[in-house]
Amino acid sequence: MIKFTKSKLGALLLLFMTACFLMQRISISQYQNRNNSNSVFLEILHPTSVHSINGQKKYEDLSPQLTTSETKPVVCMIFNGRLGNLMFKYAFLHIVSKSKNLYPILPENFELSRYFYLPEYESQEQNSRRQDCDKIKEREIERWSCSYDDKFTNLTENKAVYFHGYFQSWKYWTKYEDEIREMFTFNAEIREEASDKLLHVLSEMGYADSSDDVVVGLHSRRGDYLWKAAKEFGYVTPNETYYLNAMAYFRNKFPNQRVFFIAASNDINWLRGKLGKEENIYFLENNLPFIDMAILSLCHHVIMSSGTFGWWAGWMSRGTVVYYKHLYTPGSSFSTTFRGGDIGDFIYPGWIGLA
Ligand SMILES: *[C@@H]1O[C@H](CO)[C@@H](O)[C@H](O)[C@H]1NC(C)=O
Ligand SMILES: *[C@@H]1O[C@H](CO)[C@@H](O)[C@H](O)[C@H]1NC(C)=O
Ligand SMILES: *[C@@H]1O[C@H](CO)[C@@H](O)[C@H](O)[C@H]1NC(C)=O
Repeated sequence: MIKFTKSKLGALLLLFMTACFLMQRISISQYQNRNNSNSVFLEILHPTSVHSINGQKKYEDLSPQLTTSETKPVVCMIFNGRLGNLMFKYAFLHIVSKSKNLYPILPENFELSRYFYLPEYESQEQNSRRQDCDKIKEREIERWSCSYDDKFTNLTENKAVYFHGYFQSWKYWTKYEDEIREMFTFNAEIREEASDKLLHVLSEMGYADSSDDVVVGLHSRRGDYLWKAAKEFGYVTPNETYYLNAMAYFRNKFPNQRVFFIAASNDINWLRGKLGKEENIYFLENNLPFIDMAILSLCHHVIMSSGTFGWWAGWMSRGTVVYYKHLYTPGSSFSTTFRGGDIGDFIYPGWIGLA
């Protein structure tokens, strides 16, 4: 939920974008040339999704659209922010392009194209049509970054449009959710890396590979959320009480099973300091962010804190997701990005709010 609109936060934003840019430059070739020997393991944890985790999959229903795209007006957007933000923006752009019959323009070297198969990005016209965005002077600006804005449903079909915002609501793509899930399936190399690591961690913890065991991913968003400017803006990150309550929630939910926790954070030392004495918890370290997200998404269930990274990991897991229910500081600038302070357009239906 990175939304730094105030000028005093400009420097932070620049820093984030630099970090983001550097991250993109890290080659993922190290993940190539592996084989699928662990696919059985994926099947154990995720029997329903294994059929759709082929990163090379093409989208048959989209092919007609791609072949006629030269006749379509473009839909454009500024892609700033990190992994979780980019995913919300891309999901929105994609569904608008479908519902309004437009051709979506993605940035050159688009970070998400390294992790996912994005049908539009593969199209030949991307480069030649990118300049069409420069001709659009007006911006369609969202009213809330973390709520559904129904004014976009009124946009005219077949009319070029340039969006400005974060579009962090699952309500934008309710009709297209299966398609978004298929697109946000990590490519084969990342799945290999993530499942290898998860398998290794669990075997180290004594996981029995049986249906009696439950694996819960835990994400703690800290780092930039603790910076003075971010706190003033209204960002909130929970203390250890929340994580302990969330862990207890899962232990109580599965009283007759062993519950394993796999924790990731951008401040893993803090988390280890607070939760290190708990049973059956492992702290992930030194992974690139998308590997952490992929590992968490392979878990049965997810504990998120605040922020979009944990949101996506939880959504991808398709399990029970526990979130920190005080997502923003009341009365803050950030609170106004939720329509009427309501978090229901952001938090996915059925997720469990704890404090
Ligand atoms: C894949 O893994 C299996 C089992 O470890 C091995 O026998 C096989 O040679 C590997 N294949 C490739 C292409 O690396
Ligand atoms: C969308 O259009 C309808 C019909 O023209 C109108 O009643 C409604 O207020 C519009 N919604 C928004 C959010 O602009
Ligand atoms: C964590 O935060 C909650 C809510 O702000 C507070 O009630 C609780 O005492 C805090 N716990 C610790 C260990 O600081």
